[in-house]
Amino acid sequence: MAGKLRVGILGVGTIGTVHANAYKVVDGIETAALCDVNETALNKASETFGVSNCFTDFNQFLKSDIDVVNVSVGNVLHKKCAIAALRAGKHVFLEKPMAMNAAEANEINAAAKKSGKVLQIGMCRRFNAEAQVIRDCFKKGLLGEVYHTRAVLVRRRGIPGLGGWFTTKAQSGGGPMIDLGVHWFDLAMYLSDNWNPTAVSAKTYAKFGPRMKNYVYTEMWAGPPRLNGVFDVEDYSTGFVRFGKKATMSFEIAWACNMEDAAFVELLGEKGGVRFAPGKPMVIYTEHGGKVADVQLQYDRNVNMYEAQARALVRNCRGKKTEAATGPQGATVMRLIDAIYASDKAGKEVRIGQ
Ligand SMILES: NC(=O)c1ccc[n+]([C@@H]2O[C@H](COP(=O)([O-])OP(=O)(O)OC[C@H]3O[C@@H](n4cnc5c(N)ncnc54)[C@H](O)[C@@H]3O)[C@@H](O)[C@H]2O)c1
Repeated sequence: MAGKLRVGILGVGTIGTVHANAYKVVDGIETAALCDVNETALNKASETFGVSNCFTDFNQFLKSDIDVVNVSVGNVLHKKCAIAALRAGKHVFLEKPMAMNAAEANEINAAAKKSGKVLQIGMCRRFNAEAQVIRDCFKKGLLGEVYHTRAVLVRRRGIPGLGGWFTTKAQSGGGPMIDLGVHWFDLAMYLSDNWNPTAVSAKTYAKFGPRMKNYVYTEMWAGPPRLNGVFDVEDYSTGFVRFGKKATMSFEIAWACNMEDAAFVELLGEKGGVRFAPGKPMVIYTEHGGKVADVQLQYDRNVNMYEAQARALVRNCRGKKTEAATGPQGATVMRLIDAIYASDKAGKEVRIGQ
């Protein structure tokens, strides 16, 4: 493919506009069409990004002259829109979570396989500067075999759009695990190359969201709250995952809890351990010359993860190898989340389906 890839953005809300900004500056791709049912949002995006090819009808949008569909609508629409786009012969960039659950993710993967088109999942955190440095260290053997990861992403008060689609299970598929956990689970597996979760014991809680009008907070994105809306998802989850007999992961994922914010993935390797924390200094805890040693990593922090992700999309559509999340990896994350909810319901460790 010699010319620029023509991408159509489906859903020009919060993240859709972030992608449009990335496509403005990344070589080899341009935004050629926009689609949103919200005409105000659509008109605003049309003006901001200088795109005149605009649609409120998804089917008309699919018929337009585009090579890639950037699916950035709510979770409940991911399966339907991704499959329709693949069947229409388009490559698909699909926002996280890949789907509402593993069964949907499998259907999307089957459609992608049949179409022969690219399916890239929007696990943008992989493209954080720190994640790429750690991945490089891992590939070079500086960590050795990673036997345990600790994935922690907790917010003191960070429920998005209380009462709206994020907190309504029928529209989101789940709470912070579906919203935030997908990134951290993907990172833990991607950075350690442990892609075979076999069992999980987990517990979820909902202690803050159900308070609705009595939910105390300082700021809310995707707001304002809809106090007559629904909150039927978790706001905190914790658990322990086995990867056969080889490796384990513990996790804590929360939109709200009475603790300070924290966001990191720790990797414990036989040769070295390291903590991924966006924007924070990185140290490999290791040994050198018979002594324990700390290796401070120097790297270029000036990386825009969405632009890096868009560059990967261009490479992906041109048949080149990339670090982007694949459909099968997205489905593994969804299988893990399904099993976490199943374990919570059963009150015991459950096996994870393959
Ligand atoms: N990777 C990330 O960092 C990241 C960040 C935020 C959101 N997301 C994901 O992106 C998706 C969208 O989230 P958001 O926060 O941008 O939501 P949003 O509500 O801000 O935007 C969604 C847009 O989709 C439009 N829309 C809804 N139904 C539609 C339809 N049938 N056809 C066309 N347009 C339709 C809405 O009008 C809205 O403009 C979610 O899956 C979310 O999990 C990812």
